[in-house]
Amino acid sequence: MKQIVADAEKAFADAKDERAVEDARIAFLGRKGRLTLATGMMKSIPKEEKPAAGKALNEAKKRLAQLLEEAKKRVASSPDAENAAIDVTLPGRKPGIGAKHPITAMIDECVAIFRRMGFIAADGPEIETVFNNFDALNTPQDHPSRDPRDTFYFDDGRLMRTQTSPVQIRVMKSQKPPVRIVAPGRCFRRDTPDATHSMNFHQIEGLYVDENVSLADLKSVLMEFAREMFGEKVAIRMRPHFFPFTEPSVECDFTCVMCSGKGCSICKNSGWLEIAGAGMVDPAVFEAVGYDPEKWSGFAFGMGIERLAMIKHGVSDIRYFYENDVRFLRQFR
Ligand code: DAH
Repeated sequence: MKQIVADAEKAFADAKDERAVEDARIAFLGRKGRLTLATGMMKSIPKEEKPAAGKALNEAKKRLAQLLEEAKKRVASSPDAENAAIDVTLPGRKPGIGAKHPITAMIDECVAIFRRMGFIAADGPEIETVFNNFDALNTPQDHPSRDPRDTFYFDDGRLMRTQTSPVQIRVMKSQKPPVRIVAPGRCFRRDTPDATHSMNFHQIEGLYVDENVSLADLKSVLMEFAREMFGEKVAIRMRPHFFPFTEPSVECDFTCVMCSGKGCSICKNSGWLEIAGAGMVDPAVFEAVGYDPEKWSGFAFGMGIERLAMIKHGVSDIRYFYENDVRFLRQFR
């Protein structure tokens, strides 16, 4: 025992770094360490010598545990240890590479598709005038969307835009036809949040103004968009609808991408998904921006970006997009 303790004292004192301390620990206290082996030999010690031997063994154990603790402390606080912790020859830690948020990625994808069809991206501010968001878009004074319970107003009378449609007005006020733009951006409504509603969300707006633009042009653009976004097999249909700023107005549906039109819970068994509001620009809108409605014709459309992203990625709750939980976001890298 004395020899073991003496050797251990030397071994721990000589240990210069963590590795050497660990080696010494293994040599004496490891599974096949000297002290461990000595413990095993207790069985063969005659009965009358056992108390003394046991006592010596326990003292040796205590002493070695103490030596180990001291050596650990010593190497941890030595300047060598600090230098050893920074090994400049090791490859560096890679910083995590971020990725586009799925909403940003969806906006980029939409803009890229429309860009290939000759549309350019336009944008406008999130804080709008009542004129741009409602009046110039031919929205009657008593339209429910103007209600302060549906729209966020500022004290000065301005508002958080409820749609991207006011970008149509801004673009037409600032340039002459022809116009061919898409305008993605954030919109705000005083909705109670649930799986499909959020107080802020995104839309992409389209506007095409030229001579002799027809509903057939609108249909072909939406058809092309549907195929590029969801694949060649997707069909579209248009249903009559009403928007103040288009006449006629339509609601455009795409075949349900979940069931390919067979009917499922996502499309409520109809086989169709409502994707876009659209229509031919109302002459009153042209008048509000100083375009001659006798000369110019156009179509417009608006779609929800979150809705497209939810359908494309099978996301069941819009709120996931805003929680910024990396476990959710990582799936879109
Ligand atoms: N602004 C409409 C909405 O938020 C969507 C829309 C419908 C946009 C028809 C348009 C359009 O440009 O022509 O519900």
